Amino acid sequence: MASLSLRDQALRLMRIIGTSSCRCPAHSQTFSAGSRLSSTAKDHIEPECAFEVANSSIRYGEGVTREVGMDFKNRGLTKVCVITDQKLVNLPPVQATIESLETNGVNYELYDKVRIEPTDASFKDAIDFAKRGQFDSFLAVGGGSVIDTAKAANLYLCHPENDFLDFVNEPIGKGMPVNKVLKPLIAIPTTAGTGSETTGVAIFDYEPLKTKTGIANRAIRPLLGIVDPLHTLHMSERLTANSGYDVLCHAIESYTAIPYQMRGPRPLNPNLRPAYQGSNPVSDVWSKHALGIVAKYLKRSIKDSEDLEARSNMHLASVYAGVGFGNAGVHLCHGMSYPISGLVKSYKAKQYEVEHPLVPHGLSVVVTAPAVFRFTAPACPDRHLEAAKILGADTTNVKLADAGLLLSDTLRDFMHSTGVDNGLTDLGYKPEDIPALVKGTLPQHRVTKLAPAGAPGEDELARLFEDSMTVY
Ligand SMILES: [Fe+2]
Repeated sequence: MASLSLRDQALRLMRIIGTSSCRCPAHSQTFSAGSRLSSTAKDHIEPECAFEVANSSIRYGEGVTREVGMDFKNRGLTKVCVITDQKLVNLPPVQATIESLETNGVNYELYDKVRIEPTDASFKDAIDFAKRGQFDSFLAVGGGSVIDTAKAANLYLCHPENDFLDFVNEPIGKGMPVNKVLKPLIAIPTTAGTGSETTGVAIFDYEPLKTKTGIANRAIRPLLGIVDPLHTLHMSERLTANSGYDVLCHAIESYTAIPYQMRGPRPLNPNLRPAYQGSNPVSDVWSKHALGIVAKYLKRSIKDSEDLEARSNMHLASVYAGVGFGNAGVHLCHGMSYPISGLVKSYKAKQYEVEHPLVPHGLSVVVTAPAVFRFTAPACPDRHLEAAKILGADTTNVKLADAGLLLSDTLRDFMHSTGVDNGLTDLGYKPEDIPALVKGTLPQHRVTKLAPAGAPGEDELARLFEDSMTVY
């Protein structure tokens, strides 16, 4: 990164290697290999020198959902597990999908019990359905919750001998590698947010610990994402806003993530290189481009549900950011969001029509963004300044030292003008909840270690939550 001297880079790498090799050798895919090495192999730890770009195929276009039946037919697939949720099952995106399957004579069974913000229990319910059906393929129609549930159902259908926690990220699960090729999964995203159609990540609430974790492996990513912007016309104003802020945070977090060379030691086997590798020249292109589209279209897409141009562009921005963060990773906004949504008390997301308390993912992510980027800016101020500029800030004569403040202020203006709740207080949290929020963030090493200066400590996290109690 241009703003770091070679000495700073070397010091940071030494700190990361030192931290990773002794404090918690089991906490990440990257470093878990090291814990299983002989002492001779440990003596040969080298810095990371490579990154890999892996993505799903994407097909984009208005009305392109009608082709999906042919995709299954072309591949000779005859028993499709269609996964969606109870709201979408009666809406045009699922109806168009079913019509296409039936027109093309493809047999399917419908599972419509996906929980918005899925849990280990709701994942297991879908997995049981998949095992009973012994399907040869999967089709997910919905937002990130639906697509992530389909990934899990596919993974465990193909690994009937494994326990649920075997593939879940460490330290909650065992983070075991996936060595089998899974069944074909096609994803039709109906929100412009998670980018889940492009990634090998499935996130859920692990109820025994009241926190979010996930499964992260390239093997579970969809074969094809069918991105049909007509589906975004069914999103409510708040769903559009929350999903859009997820895109925004994917873009900025991946662009400001630790450079891939600084992430840690080079894995001994390319299979052990994590999906979230740190920022790299390819993900930078996708992340910055996504942010530019968010700057231009997010407000319009929230304000007017009929604005197909704005909503189409946000749907594409979700894909672009998905390619960026799917290979670079996200860091503190996402790491801190997991306890914010996992520890929810009574907050019920506006316009979501769900029975249970819910802080939607995008909202839980963006609420800490102003504090997070003010905190992370000193590690790579040029990138924070560039993000502010892309979002419309005037950066003329702004010193690098003020990059964090400028990006933070720009985000607060953006959030205020689009009606985002005023911080953790509005989501039902009080200052006395901060220790629990910090405790829930600490196990999220997989992402927090990708912050540009590495994972923050307990005191720093507490300050970030404190600074996020109110935003405006
Ligand atoms: Fe996200």
